[in-house]
Amino acid sequence: MSRNFIEAVAHRRSYYHLSDRAMVDDSLVVGVVDELLTTMPSPFNVQSARVVVLFGEQHRDLWRIVIEALRHIVPAERFEKSKTKIERAFLAGRGTLLFYEDEDALNHMRSNYPAYADNVAIWSEQSSGMLQFALWTALEEFGYGASLQHYNPLIDHAVAERWLINPDWRLKAEMPFGAPLDSPAHRTNATPAHSRRLVFGEKE
Ligand SMILES: Cc1cc2nc3c(=O)[nH]c(=O)nc-3n(C[C@H](O)[C@H](O)[C@H](O)COP(=O)(O)O)c2cc1C
Repeated sequence: MSRNFIEAVAHRRSYYHLSDRAMVDDSLVVGVVDELLTTMPSPFNVQSARVVVLFGEQHRDLWRIVIEALRHIVPAERFEKSKTKIERAFLAGRGTLLFYEDEDALNHMRSNYPAYADNVAIWSEQSSGMLQFALWTALEEFGYGASLQHYNPLIDHAVAERWLINPDWRLKAEMPFGAPLDSPAHRTNATPAHSRRLVFGEKE
C-alpha cells in the first residue's frame, strides 16, 4: 500500500460493476476484518460489532436471497431491471461483508450505564458506520471495488436462517466487493467544504 491515510480515504468510492477476480488472497480480507474489529472504537468499548464474511458461492447465495426477496415486493415490470442490476453490481463480485450489531452486548451497556441508555442505539449505529467506512477503505486499498447496501431488514430472516446467525445480531448493512469493472461516478460537492465548516482560533 503506497497511499497515505488521507489519500486512501479519498480513493474509496462506490463501485457498481464487479467481477469475482481475486485482487488478494481471501485470507487477507479475513485478516483485515479481524484487525479492524479489534481496533475500531465503540462506546464504553462495548465492541458490539459483528461481521459475517461471505466468499464465492456463499456470497452469490446472499444476492440470490436478495433477488428472491425483491421478487415479492417489486412490481413485475420493474423486477427484471432490479435483478440485472443486482447480478452485475453485487452478485458478480467476489464476496460480501455483512455488518451486524449484537443486541445482547448493547443491552449489557444499557444496564451498566443507565444514564446513557437512550444513546445506545444511536452510538451503535455510529460505531458500526465507523467500521463500515474503515473496511470499505481497506477493501479498496487491496484493489477491490465495493459499495454499501441496505437490503435489511427485508432479508434478515432468510439470511439468519441460511447462515445460522445468532438471533441477538441485528443486520445493519451489506458490503459487496469484487474486482472493479467500472469507474466511480464523478465526485460532486453541492456545497463547498469551506462553507460547511467553522474554524475558531486558528494560528496565522
Ligand atoms: C450511511 C450510508 C448509507 C448508504 N446507503 C447506500 C445504499 O443503500 N445503496 C447504495 O448504493 N449506496 C449507498 N451509500 C453510498 C452513497 O450513495 C455514496 O457513498 C455517495 O453517493 C458518494 O459516492 P462515493 O461512495 O462514490 O464517494 C450509502 C452511504 C452511506 C454513508
